[in-house]
Amino acid sequence: MSNEIASHYSPGNLGAAIEAGLKVVTGNTRPATIDDLAPVDEFHIGSRAASVHLFDQLGLTSADIVLDVGAGIGGSSRFVAKNYGCKVTGIDLTPEFSEVGNSLNEKFGLSDLVSIQQGSALEMPFEDDSFSVVYMMHVGMNISDKAALYSEIRRVLKPGGKFAVYDVLKGSNPAALEFPVPWATEPSSSFLATVDQMRELLTNAGFEIDVVEDRIEFAVEFFKGLTPPAGGPPPIGLHLIIGKDTPIKIKNMVDNINNDLCGPWELIAH
Ligand SMILES: C[S@@+](CC[C@H](N)C(=O)[O-])C[C@H]1O[C@@H](n2cnc3c(N)ncnc32)[C@H](O)[C@@H]1O
Repeated sequence: MSNEIASHYSPGNLGAAIEAGLKVVTGNTRPATIDDLAPVDEFHIGSRAASVHLFDQLGLTSADIVLDVGAGIGGSSRFVAKNYGCKVTGIDLTPEFSEVGNSLNEKFGLSDLVSIQQGSALEMPFEDDSFSVVYMMHVGMNISDKAALYSEIRRVLKPGGKFAVYDVLKGSNPAALEFPVPWATEPSSSFLATVDQMRELLTNAGFEIDVVEDRIEFAVEFFKGLTPPAGGPPPIGLHLIIGKDTPIKIKNMVDNINNDLCGPWELIAH
């Protein structure tokens, strides 16, 4: 299963595609910034705005030691490091993502603060009680053994530390999701929990839940604001990661959300 998931997320040649896109965005006349990357390196509904909404609630300071579970190519890790000055470690299953992520850390002068390791969230190569804040965005949808996932996160979190999750959860419509979606080509790689299951999973793993927020309206508004690009996709965008099926995967995800089959939620716990 983990090979299937990693290959779903391996576009091939991603680093070169991002470099080429950045040259177009900057017109090769100014250095690229991490903000130029946000359309491709924040791979979750609502992009940077969704990250900011989550991080604003965590009271991050430069003293925090942060873990980004399923970091992708590390957009939100770089954002946290740059904006709050904290050290961020990412872990991601997909080798191409950790390689590209680390070369972007280097390119943007952030490799002292951010590093992305290849590995599974179910068996993380970190000591117990290593991090003061752990967050995870749009990853749980690919993981069936959620009890193991949250217990592993609890293991690496320092006592009193915070855990924040922003994931797509199952909606109240019991009908089957339309596939493919950005996180899975087939139903066999998609494992959505309900919000009640999430409460139970986190509680059973030893967390106390502080915030449960439905972000579905935010998602609906976000998608309304996206206009199909005239003249082809932009130089930097999620199509570089999702590939040629991007329009159908996005359309299915939006339809699934509009039909209450699924939607994004935030949960923050300690
Ligand atoms: C939709 S992307 C989100 C990436 C990133 N969190 C973001 O929001 O930009 C899902 C990510 O989860 C990672 N992933 C899926 N299952 C994983 C697992 N068991 N352990 C670690 N990473 C995993 C994938 O490789 C992929 O990078």
